[in-house]
Amino acid sequence: MSIKAPRGTRDILPLEAQKWYILEEIFKKMCCIYNMHEIRTPLFEETELFVRSVGEESDVVNKEMYNFKDRGGRELALRPEGTAGVVRAYIEHGLYNMPQPVKLFYYGPMFRYDRPQAGRQRQFYQMGIEIFGTREPIADVEVIKFTADFFSSLGFRNLQLHINSVGCPQCRFPYQDDLKEFAREKLSMLCADCQRRALLNPLRLLDCKEEGCRELMKDSPQLESYLCQDCRDHFNGVLELLNVLNVPYYVDPYMVRGLDYYTNTAFEFISEDIGAQGSLGGGGRYDNLVEICGGPSVPGVGLAMGVERIALAMDREQLWPEESEPEGVFMAVQDSGLKEEALSMLYSLREKGLRADTDFLNRSLKAQMKFANRNGFRYVIIFGEEEKLKNQIKLRDMLKGEQLELSFAEALDILVKERS
Ligand code: HAM
Repeated sequence: MSIKAPRGTRDILPLEAQKWYILEEIFKKMCCIYNMHEIRTPLFEETELFVRSVGEESDVVNKEMYNFKDRGGRELALRPEGTAGVVRAYIEHGLYNMPQPVKLFYYGPMFRYDRPQAGRQRQFYQMGIEIFGTREPIADVEVIKFTADFFSSLGFRNLQLHINSVGCPQCRFPYQDDLKEFAREKLSMLCADCQRRALLNPLRLLDCKEEGCRELMKDSPQLESYLCQDCRDHFNGVLELLNVLNVPYYVDPYMVRGLDYYTNTAFEFISEDIGAQGSLGGGGRYDNLVEICGGPSVPGVGLAMGVERIALAMDREQLWPEESEPEGVFMAVQDSGLKEEALSMLYSLREKGLRADTDFLNRSLKAQMKFANRNGFRYVIIFGEEEKLKNQIKLRDMLKGEQLELSFAEALDILVKERS
């Protein structure tokens, strides 16, 4: 039996990778415009980091984490998300001593053992940003506006921004008690997970994926009326700035998000087009997380977007740019005795920074032309006995169907000028 990619993982083949490249370029450009700096953290961390930050009772840690013991007996986990590792690095390297805010971005694979379906995988890629060191609503709005700008540069016009405030631990206590009370009557009808959540972490009752539980919790108390003045002011501050910047939003009073570290703002960008896994990106504020992870009391806010989901939505909405024009030069050799000379021409083309390739399989000229065409080369240089005798080459423009006979040096000149 042949070995297949593990369930929930995908190979990104060259044609798809080209599309991802577009997303990566736009993301990095946006980060540069917003003055964000890249951070790269390990793919695995001590399990304890995620237990403390994401939360022991969250699905992500409780059910979906890939944890393992290494040969030295250390308890490690493949990162299920990026924020915890970035927070750990922020503390470990004393980034709180730098001028604040510190604005970071990252891009890479995350791992969650969830039931795979379209837009949900066990290894998936996230692009994320985190801003440390300010509690001002302007920072929340910076993250949201970044995301809105990123999506609009990709061509999305109808994503919905859902936003809520999950308050601070102080205003959450009485709310959680009331939520528990509300759930008590329905306890026997809730799923086994929710029965446990009702005891240990009632807020999680609001993001159960079971339809039955969602229905039962539909009219539960709303956190909004429990917010303390500080949290209320903060949320209003965020909404006012969104109004000023003309960023449309929908206040979703039941959105709590699946990770325990959020305080105040929580938000998601949702696409109606890709079904159940419609959240293309989500984030929020986490003012206690740095402290929870062993650092000083530094607030933070950030977001992460799922690359597979964005790509899927781009497919559905046909947002990918037209295929790029053919470019570069294919060196076609008519006689295998001329390979060496052709190679030196090939490398001269590359030295000039031109995309260039040649035949590796001693194919006929016709087959080489076909290969060049299929591989998106704009030009073919044809070099055979006849050309060698005349100390020339043929330069064929595959787009225009025109052909010139000239020296290689002249051809090189034309190609370099053409590119610039
Ligand atoms: P999250 O909502 O768990 O938040 O994930 C962010 C995004 O990652 C989701 O909106 C979705 O697009 C994508 N995603 C999540 N799980 C999967 C999956 N199994 N397959 C494919 N895509 C997935 C976080 O991870 C937070 N760290 C975001 C954040 C940053 N909050 C503050 N800073």
